[in-house]
Amino acid sequence: MKGNPLKDIENAIGSCTSLVELEKMRVSLFGKKGYFAAQFEELKKLDGEAKKEFAQNLNINKENFLELLNQKKSALESVMIEEQMRKSSVDVTLFNQESAAGALHPVMDTMDKIIEYFVSMNFSIEEGPLVEDDFHNFEALNLPKYHPARDMQDTFYFKDSMLLRTHTSPVQIRTMLKQSAPIRMICPGAVFRRDFDITHTPMFHQVEGLVVDKTGKVSFANLKFILEDFFKIYVWRCESTFPPKLFPFTEPSAEADISCIFCHGEGCRVCSHTGWLEVLGCGVVDPNVFKAVGYKDVSGYAFGLGVERFAMLLHQIPDLRSLFEGDLRLLEQFR
Ligand code: DAH
Repeated sequence: MKGNPLKDIENAIGSCTSLVELEKMRVSLFGKKGYFAAQFEELKKLDGEAKKEFAQNLNINKENFLELLNQKKSALESVMIEEQMRKSSVDVTLFNQESAAGALHPVMDTMDKIIEYFVSMNFSIEEGPLVEDDFHNFEALNLPKYHPARDMQDTFYFKDSMLLRTHTSPVQIRTMLKQSAPIRMICPGAVFRRDFDITHTPMFHQVEGLVVDKTGKVSFANLKFILEDFFKIYVWRCESTFPPKLFPFTEPSAEADISCIFCHGEGCRVCSHTGWLEVLGCGVVDPNVFKAVGYKDVSGYAFGLGVERFAMLLHQIPDLRSLFEGDLRLLEQFR
């Protein structure tokens, strides 16, 4: 760096393209054998006014170049960071052949399809808490204390007489207490019972239905129509029948059976050789239920179905428990 080096040095710093180059530049200026070391040697040779002036200029130049080096360093560093970020950013829109497509869990898929039908028939969707009290889960549903039917539902209790809801029926009560008739609702959701075998798990899902209107406007015939239509659309080719069954919250009460989707009524192991599969409970709302919520001059129907039961039947899953084990070999079949 001879002649008028100041401009050259400035240009050289400006044209450094990497931190390594810049460091070399710094050493060539400020190192033991660098430009400034040589300049200080020159200084020693001078005297008086000339020495003073030379020293002043030297210090100013030193400061300037240090400042220039620092500025260049920051500039190169931010370019490097930007470059790194650009390289490591992920384009989420790119198709990755390695990744497997996910799918809804068969229970959720079944639930969605059931909901879809009833929403298309103008039912609203209501929700209720999973931790319920005795009044909503039993009492208001015409299941007073010591009623034998309470034993049908093996309940998980908490200390303060709260419990995990054993069915979605308490949402009927909550909805009627919240609003007046007419009501046309379903409630999909999880329910809990102390039960565990090939067809029972401690947590499963139900969809509850309730329709209430002024006396005489809603009958068992309406209930039968909507369920038959649902079976035809959702299960497709099947017959249905409604043999009587006892539920405390409905009178008359019935179960709904569909013709066995495996043997089409011939009789097989799945339908215990009856030709029929029980798929839900239903009936005309018991007057005691309306009394509990203070409803007068109304009639209604209700039904409750088990979502897993439908999923098992439609997907031919023999053991209910396998649905909740998270085994990918099973779940991948529903993609
Ligand atoms: N809650 C009943 C159960 O869990 C199912 C049920 C039956 C619901 C009849 C109803 C009904 O609304 O009318 O077994």
